[in-house]
Amino acid sequence: MVITICIGSSCHLKGSREIVHTLERLISLHKVKDRVELTGSFCIGQCMKGVCVKIEEQLFSLTPDDAENFFKKEVLGRQE
Ligand code: FES
Repeated sequence: MVITICIGSSCHLKGSREIVHTLERLISLHKVKDRVELTGSFCIGQCMKGVCVKIEEQLFSLTPDDAENFFKKEVLGRQE
């Protein structure tokens, strides 16, 4: 699974860096490093939403506070 986090300036201001750190921490805590790849992208044109995060082509809009729930539901929830 590839998770793409927007690190464009608008998402950066809304906390994309914090979301990256939270996801990195949870990925290593849950030992899913070999199955989950984190990558960054420049602005993906949805700045008016929260921090834009994509799993494959599915777009999510997160705040740093949502990151943990997002991980549990959308990342761990999709692992078999
Ligand atoms: S900066 Fe993230 S969508 Fe524009």
